[in-house]
Amino acid sequence: MLALIIREARNTDCDALSALAFRAKAVWGYDDRFMQACRAELSVSPEDLATADLCHGVGEVDGVVVGFHALRRLSASEWDLDALFVAPEHLGCGVGSRLLLHACDLARATGATRVWVQSDPHAVGFYEAMGARRVGVRVSASIAGRELPLLCLDLATGGRVARPGACGVDAG
Ligand SMILES: CC(C)(COP(=O)(O)OP(=O)(O)OC[C@H]1O[C@@H](n2cnc3c(N)ncnc32)[C@H](O)[C@@H]1OP(=O)(O)O)[C@@H](O)C(=O)NCCC(=O)NCCS
Repeated sequence: MLALIIREARNTDCDALSALAFRAKAVWGYDDRFMQACRAELSVSPEDLATADLCHGVGEVDGVVVGFHALRRLSASEWDLDALFVAPEHLGCGVGSRLLLHACDLARATGATRVWVQSDPHAVGFYEAMGARRVGVRVSASIAGRELPLLCLDLATGGRVARPGACGVDAG
């Protein structure tokens, strides 16, 4: 198994996380205009890290940041997965699944039962492999008129995410 650690984000990570999110999103082949329209949504700021209802988990291998997740609390029982990005050179190595499992462990530890995901269309198969089910669509915050698949991860019965600690990392 990859020697992945998952830690809290620090202010000094913001530029690296923003750049990683931009590179990760670009793997789907979006054109420059689309990518520029998403830039703000793909950016992580110190204000984000200081927001009480936002949690970030940063994945590192040998001191190199290879991915991250961001979770936003909606209510006592529900969170939104705001971001999940893996560096292109680390795709397909299990980093995304371990980051997602870590995010689900964090949500579960607060008593939540559900995590919502507004997914990139290319990533739907990944979330379904992790136990998510498609429940509808949500409108993109970056691209006017674009509808994105909305999925739900049920923390009690949602396949792989229903196993606490499956990410192999202490969710703290
Ligand atoms: C989606 C993403 C996070 C997946 O990360 P990853 O590290 O490559 O995924 P993993 O290696 O942990 O894969 C876990 C499982 O999902 C499957 N999977 C991964 N990506 C998939 C995809 N795009 N479609 C279908 N299945 C996929 C894998 O085959 C694997 O299945 P298995 O465990 O049964 O073998 C990554 O592709 C990414 O960062 N993409 C760009 C940014 C993005 O779109 N993020 C999501 C925003 S909503």
